[in-house]
Amino acid sequence: MAANPGKPWAGRFSGRTDDLLEKLSVSIHFDQRLAPFDIAGSQAHARMLGQVGLVTQEESRRMVNGLEKLKKRVDSGLFPWDSKLEDVHMNLERALTDLIGPTGEKLHTARSRNDQVALDTRLYLREAAAGIGVSLRRLRQALVDKAASAKTAAMPGYTHLQRAQPIVAGHHLLAYYQMLTRDQERLGDLARRLDSMPLGSGALAGTGLPINPQMVAEDLGFSRLAENSLDAVASRDHLLEFLSFGAILMVNLSRLAEDLVLWCSQEFAFAELPDELSTGSSMMPQKKNPDGAELMRGKAGRVVGNLMTLLTVVKGLPMSYNRDLQEDKEPLFDAVDTLLLVLPMAAAMISRLKFNFDRMREAANDPYAPATDLADHLVKKGVPFREAHQQAGQTVVYALSRHKALVDLSLAELNKFCPQAGPEVLEEMRLPALLAARDTTGGTAPRSVGRQLAAARRALAAEARKGAI
Ligand code: ARG
Repeated sequence: MAANPGKPWAGRFSGRTDDLLEKLSVSIHFDQRLAPFDIAGSQAHARMLGQVGLVTQEESRRMVNGLEKLKKRVDSGLFPWDSKLEDVHMNLERALTDLIGPTGEKLHTARSRNDQVALDTRLYLREAAAGIGVSLRRLRQALVDKAASAKTAAMPGYTHLQRAQPIVAGHHLLAYYQMLTRDQERLGDLARRLDSMPLGSGALAGTGLPINPQMVAEDLGFSRLAENSLDAVASRDHLLEFLSFGAILMVNLSRLAEDLVLWCSQEFAFAELPDELSTGSSMMPQKKNPDGAELMRGKAGRVVGNLMTLLTVVKGLPMSYNRDLQEDKEPLFDAVDTLLLVLPMAAAMISRLKFNFDRMREAANDPYAPATDLADHLVKKGVPFREAHQQAGQTVVYALSRHKALVDLSLAELNKFCPQAGPEVLEEMRLPALLAARDTTGGTAPRSVGRQLAAARRALAAEARKGAI
C-alpha cells in the first residue's frame, strides 16, 4: 500500500507528506476558478489522444463525456473540491476516474501539470481579457458621449492644480479617452502574445509519445504552438504583461477618479454625482461622498501590488518550471476581478455625472487668464515673444493694482505697457475668443474638440466592426 494515498506520485514515495507541506502546497481554494478551462483543455487533449491512437476512440469519447459531466457539476457549484488533492488538475482527474473508471487514468498521457497549468491560465486570461476589453470600450464610449454633451462648455484647465488657461469640458474628457485608448491597444497587443498553445511541452522537454498538438491548438482556437517547451512551462511574462496593462490602466483611472473627487467637492463644485452613486456619512447628515471614485483611486494600489507580487515571484527563477510559479494565480485573479468591478463603475459615474456649467464658466473666466492671449496678440504684431511676455506681465500687475480684469482695461491703459496692442485685442481676450483661437491639432477650440470627437467616434465604430479586444 502506497504511503501517499491519493497522490499521483505515490509510487515513488514511502513517507507521507508532512501536514506543513500539504498546507503550503494546496491551491484548490483559488485555482478551482480554472476548472472550466482545465476541463476544456482536457477535452481537447482527450480528443487528440484518440485521434493519434494513444487511447481508443471509445476511451477518448468516454473521457470527453465524463469531463462534460464534471463541468455541469462544477457549474452547479456542487463539485466537492478536496484540499487533499491539492489543486484543480488533480481534483478533476480523480473525479473523472471515479466517474468513468480506469480509463480516466489515461487522461494524463503525454501531459504534465506544468504544461496543463500553462494552458489553463492562457485560456482563462484570453476570456478575461475579452470581457475587460468590452468594459474598457464602454467606458471610452461613455467618455465620448459625455464629451459630446459637454463639448463647448468652458472650464478652467489646470497645471500644478492652479488655474492655467480656459478649456472646454469636452477637451478634458477626451484627454482621458486618449489615455484609455492606449490602454485598450496594450490589451490588444498582449492578447496577440497570449495566442500560443503550450500543451505538448510536457514537464519541460516535450514528450516522446506521438501527440498532435496542432490539433489541440485548433480545437481550442489558438493560432500557433509554443516554439520552445522550456519557455512554455517557465514563462509568465504574458501574465506580467497583463498585470502591467492593468496597473497602468488603474493608475490612469485613479487620475480620472481624482478629478471626479475634486469636481464634486464644494471647493470646485463643477459637478455632482447622483445619489445612487454617492454615499452618506454615518455621523454628518449633510455629507454626500464620492466613494465610488475614491475606491476606484484606492484600488489602483491593489493592481500595482499584484504586478509587483508577480514580478518578484518570477525574478531570478532558474529555468524552467518552479513551484514558485503557483503564486501567479492570486494576483492575476485579483487584478481581473478588480478591473471588472471598477470599469463599469467608472462608466456609470461618467455617464451620470451632472456638470454645473455655470460654475465651471465662472471659474474659467479668470480675470488674468487672457494674459497669454495678450502676449500672443503682441507676437502677431511683431513683438518678440519674450518681450511680449514682459509687457503682458506688467499689464497684469497694473490691472491687479486697479482691481480690474484684463478685459476691463481700456486700450489706452493697455497701450501704456503694450504700445503695439490694437483695439481688436479687447475682443481677443474674451472667453469665447480665447477658446476659439486654440484651433491647433489637439487644441481646446470647440472646432478642434469637434474634430477629436469625430475621430474618437470613428475609432470606436471601427473597433466594434473589427470585433477587436
Ligand atoms: N498547481 C501547480 C501550479 O499552479 C500546478 C503545476 C504543478 N507542477 C509541479 N511540478 N508540481 O503551478
